[in-house]
Amino acid sequence: MTDITANQKDLSIRPSADRCLHGNIRVPGDKSISHRALMLGAIATGETTIEGLLLGEDPRSTAQCFRRLGAEISELNTQLVRVRGVGLGNLQEPTDILDCGNSGTTMRLMLGILASHPDKFFTMTGDHSLRSRPMSRVVKPLQQMGAQIWGRQGNALAPLAIQGQRLQGIHYHSPIASAQVKSCILLAGLMAEGQTTVTEPALSRDHSERMLKAFGAEIQVDPETHSVTVTGQAQLQGQPVVVPGDISSAAFWLVGAAIAPGSELIVENVGVNPTRTGILEALAMMDADIELINQRVVAGEPVADLRVRHSQLKACTIAGDIIPRLIDEIPILAVAAIFARGTTVIRDAAELRVKESDRLQVMATQLNRLGARVTELPDGLEITGGTPLTGTEVDSHDDHRVAMSLAIAALCAKDTTTIHRAEAAAISYPEFTSTLQEAIGG
Ligand code: S3P
Repeated sequence: MTDITANQKDLSIRPSADRCLHGNIRVPGDKSISHRALMLGAIATGETTIEGLLLGEDPRSTAQCFRRLGAEISELNTQLVRVRGVGLGNLQEPTDILDCGNSGTTMRLMLGILASHPDKFFTMTGDHSLRSRPMSRVVKPLQQMGAQIWGRQGNALAPLAIQGQRLQGIHYHSPIASAQVKSCILLAGLMAEGQTTVTEPALSRDHSERMLKAFGAEIQVDPETHSVTVTGQAQLQGQPVVVPGDISSAAFWLVGAAIAPGSELIVENVGVNPTRTGILEALAMMDADIELINQRVVAGEPVADLRVRHSQLKACTIAGDIIPRLIDEIPILAVAAIFARGTTVIRDAAELRVKESDRLQVMATQLNRLGARVTELPDGLEITGGTPLTGTEVDSHDDHRVAMSLAIAALCAKDTTTIHRAEAAAISYPEFTSTLQEAIGG
């Protein structure tokens, strides 16, 4: 029987010969949708109810910040969280620094909201990783709207200080396809004069647009040019939100079952918004056996159960416009590629260098420690499949998605793998280890 031992920081996995994954499992709520439900609930008028909220560290950071800003948010649980919003423009000036923890989404989206609160002063910070992540990508467009923001290294790094202002709508042509940048500017545009438009080079996740519409904002989308426009001086009304399971969390099980012989798994209730399903397309290109069953729409987001069976994977090239639609799944796709025939090439993914860790560098180093053949490219990875993995000590570098990707690789390695700092998984998936135990029948 596969042996899994976890202490507070590390996770050790000693797989047995029958290491397959089976049964029906559920993944926690979508992280992006959870952040947005808390934020829009906090700035809308009236009550927002949230079902299926992710109880990970990141949404907890968002909830804590918005409580400090005056929103009433009930105790967090997956059944029903109630948010009593303050109404647009009515957030309070907090008496202390807002702590975004490890969460880039909290910091970047909240920045757009706070920068548009005239006459109020805010400060925000985050953990070691977040304080090294680029903020100029949101600070610069906000400054074009009239925002006043200060930070380290020419206003590029947190901690940040914000003196709220009355903002002007702009048309911003973003150099990167980033939902965090797009959402930050749209949120600032809610209170700005006139219209605010964001045009992206490729389509990024559209949860903000969907939810803003549901809350009553005037949103126009032009799919041809990847542009979204919000009309300022909006009115937002609290809504019931149902959060689907996170496809980024489901991705670990999709790849785990695809590479572990004998596996057959159903991951229930997964969000399959087309701006997030790049992982399904990439795995289909690799000949993975994945079927979408019971497709439905829940509270404005498409949802399905995903059935996955083991199959022999083949290499593929992943590059271009698909990258923003699978940006968080590249670490686990790298694991899939180790078990594929041929050489998989991932390009146009330089953004991975400024995530919770430098995911290109960290994944290449850690997977090579296990015996994989991974070459780091300036904007991607080249992975030659077919080399057997042997367990050893690896390190998540405090990155949740790295920790979980290494655990799936460990399941298909010989001998014991110990993943140091594996507790980082709690950022987006606190139940990861117990679900792993459940799926291997432990
Ligand atoms: C997110 C957008 C993505 C993603 C992150 C969550 C969001 O970041 O990597 O985990 O909720 O908007 P970028 O928009 O910076 O690519």
